[in-house]
Amino acid sequence: MSLSLIGKSIAESPTLKLNEIAAILKAKGEPVIHLGGGEPKSKAPMDAILAATNILTSGEVRYTPADGIPELKQAIIRYTEDFYGRKVFPEHIIASSGAKQAIMVALQAILNPQEEVIFPAPYWVSYPEMVKLCGGIPVPVLPFDGSFYPRLQDIEGVTTSYTKAIIINSPNNPTGAMYPEEFISDIVQFCEKRGIWLIMDDIYHRLIFDGKKPINCYKYSTDLSENSKIILINGVSKQYAMTGFRIGWAVGNKKLINCMTNIQSHQTSGPSVIVQKAATGAINGLQSHVENLRATLENNRNIMMDRLNAFEGVRPVKPDGTFYTFADFSHYEKDSKKLAFLLLDKVRVITVPGIDFGMEGWLRLSTCGAVKDITEGIERIKWVLDPNSPNELYIGERKLVRDWV
Ligand SMILES: Cc1ncc(COP(=O)(O)O)c(C=O)c1O
Repeated sequence: MSLSLIGKSIAESPTLKLNEIAAILKAKGEPVIHLGGGEPKSKAPMDAILAATNILTSGEVRYTPADGIPELKQAIIRYTEDFYGRKVFPEHIIASSGAKQAIMVALQAILNPQEEVIFPAPYWVSYPEMVKLCGGIPVPVLPFDGSFYPRLQDIEGVTTSYTKAIIINSPNNPTGAMYPEEFISDIVQFCEKRGIWLIMDDIYHRLIFDGKKPINCYKYSTDLSENSKIILINGVSKQYAMTGFRIGWAVGNKKLINCMTNIQSHQTSGPSVIVQKAATGAINGLQSHVENLRATLENNRNIMMDRLNAFEGVRPVKPDGTFYTFADFSHYEKDSKKLAFLLLDKVRVITVPGIDFGMEGWLRLSTCGAVKDITEGIERIKWVLDPNSPNELYIGERKLVRDWV
């Protein structure tokens, strides 16, 4: 079959695949613990539900402008002022079907074939595939010091005349690491000096712990005119637990947003008006929902860290935010896909192999589920891996026997 070269080069989203596997196993009555998920379990805010219900019951569900409805843009303008202290206008904003589409359309607007996009590793699984979809070349960069905190030198070292953009995701999926203010300042100035687009994927910026404050990239920019090459990405999926609604947005200079709008107008048109209304409701509504979620996630992070720190041979890195913990399991198994499969096969615990994020030997464990899932999930993993575990484990009525050692 003559599929395109680009099409054939794109891997399926491993995280979406895991959700599918979890759903199939659960439907079969399997005692699955899903530590692979990337979505909060809390309900969407009532303000979002009411706004969506209102438009639905009106029956007036129509096309919207390709870059989003005016009231959502007004909400995003206020959001940008509140969290970034920056006054922007509707022409600086595009609302898309998820932050995923906002990033994709931004890349389509700026990349020529063979141009390079740098991002620190470990990275969100979609960055390399999105760059490839645009005919570009993904350039992941691992910090030389072995930490998950990149330094400017690391980025500078892989920058070439083909470098068109740098993507920064802090707090980071999968590590939860929040990059230091000094690094954000360095990278903003570096991109300005070299004329490189800087995509700031701030999707987790309100889900941070230990009293830390989100870092505002605009604070370090010396040129916020229409020449600014900062593209700020955000969305409602994570902070408002609205992953299924599919609304994200980009803030950028007018020419860029106009170009993105043209692309989106032929790709999907504007996002569904129902979810745009819901997103507007969430952004304009009661914000205690976000703080409750943040506090729950911090508590879950602490429980996950306690459990992993007591797990001999496993090296977790304490997350500063998000709902992921990244941990080194290479003491037990260097092939992370093999390990994730073993855990799924033996004890029905779903994890995400580190290799999907560019780090072999590690697993990403989610903390967005119930505390019981975290504690029982780690217990089951320990039972599989620790050679000193008892020979048998009961999951409900089911008796499992260690037959692999
Ligand atoms: C780093 C990062 N950026 C963007 C997204 C996409 O979010 P959305 O649901 O708004 O498309 C995700 C979702 O997992 C993510 O982890």
